[in-house]
Amino acid sequence: MQGDSTTTLTDSVEIGGLTVPNRLYRAPLLECAGNGPDAVETYIDELEPAAEAGAGLIFQGASIVTDEGGCAAPNMTRVHDPEFVDRLSTLTDRIHDHDSRIFIQLAHGGLRSLSLWHREYREQNPDEGQLAVSEPPWQLRAADRAGLINVDADVLSTSEVRELADSFGRAAGYAADAGYDGIHLSGANMGIVQQFLSPYYNDRDDEFADGVRFLLAIRDAVREHAGDIPLVTKVPAETAAPPFVRRHLTHEDGVQIADRLSEAGYDALVPVECSVYWDASLIRGAYPERAWSAEELQSEYEAVFGGRLRARAVSLLNRLQARQFPAEPGWNADFCRAVREAVDVPLLCEGGLREREHCEELLNGGAADMVGIGRPFYAEPRLPVRLLRGERALCGSCNNCTVPQATGEPDRCRTPEVVRQRAQYEKQGAYDGN
Ligand SMILES: Cc1cc2nc3c(=O)[nH]c(=O)nc-3n(C[C@H](O)[C@H](O)[C@H](O)COP(=O)(O)O)c2cc1C
Repeated sequence: MQGDSTTTLTDSVEIGGLTVPNRLYRAPLLECAGNGPDAVETYIDELEPAAEAGAGLIFQGASIVTDEGGCAAPNMTRVHDPEFVDRLSTLTDRIHDHDSRIFIQLAHGGLRSLSLWHREYREQNPDEGQLAVSEPPWQLRAADRAGLINVDADVLSTSEVRELADSFGRAAGYAADAGYDGIHLSGANMGIVQQFLSPYYNDRDDEFADGVRFLLAIRDAVREHAGDIPLVTKVPAETAAPPFVRRHLTHEDGVQIADRLSEAGYDALVPVECSVYWDASLIRGAYPERAWSAEELQSEYEAVFGGRLRARAVSLLNRLQARQFPAEPGWNADFCRAVREAVDVPLLCEGGLREREHCEELLNGGAADMVGIGRPFYAEPRLPVRLLRGERALCGSCNNCTVPQATGEPDRCRTPEVVRQRAQYEKQGAYDGN
């Protein structure tokens, strides 16, 4: 077990035989880089500053392993094509120049795909449905009948599940060839990995009725295509599921899954408390008033959500959820501690962390071996310099960065006070050095 009473954020740590130079990581966040001619530059612009400023490990945001479908949001990158992934070696070189490490996060949205919720995308891609673990839950089918979403699910056969697992393995092989130091599975956020694990989605009667077996199939495929590259996954506990969802993963279920995955050779785990849906429980914080009321985005929200009334309804739901899930620093720490009782592999804790002192409390209190920070990197790409000096991140978890991404807008902090303060800090040289 790692993380004794003298651990600091600047201590190194081992993940699956890889030495990571310190214990601060950039959590996976959408970079909206796509696959176009500027994709690699977009990644470099977004990720290199974090490495240069002192983050020991960069988790690139979710990339999709198939050549079609499965994208949860606009402008996600696909990594099924070895020629494209090979171009990312420029990125991995740049991260390594700063003695940092980079893992790619592999994903597939399954039901949580653009064709489910994005009206404009659906109109442009009328034939695209969603891959599903089982017949979708009745609540989603009811929402489909009410015209709120578009369920067009194609339930995976046993051989298709194996083929999908192999797509993860092939993408891992391309990533290893491009110089990535490790593979991170998008195991939460209502992606297909969580859908396999969750009793809410998984009602199969083949070997994959046991959802952990999908992760074992991915492990085998990763080992076949990428050798012994470090392999990490998020592990969900669906404790934030709404009361009308009776079958969901409890804390205890999450601990058992973590235990099985560590036994099966997963090299590190990221325990996260979430819902069965893709909702505000993943990004706890304020209602993004400014983002929803931005004049220039209104027509785009209407196109995405299918009209003004629907856009308003989504905004109202967001408001209610923000009340339910306020920013709570270190909201995954209790779940991490419960997992720590059962497993010995390194645990990574993220969610609302904004201060070095708090991060080190978690490292020393048995909750985690590494700590991750997400949204604050949108506001301050060179945050580690200030954070490692003991200064607090500017991000107030206002979530104005999140909603515009539904329209394809790039990821960035959109809160003027924060942007102004960052500019001030830049002028003062607060981000210089590392
Ligand atoms: C816009 C946005 C995109 C995200 N994309 C991903 C992702 O691709 N994969 C993932 O596992 N988590 C993703 N997350 C969750 C973050 O990794 C992180 O757990 C969350 O933001 C909480 O940490 P924070 O409070 O430091 O932002 C995303 C979060 C946000 C706000």
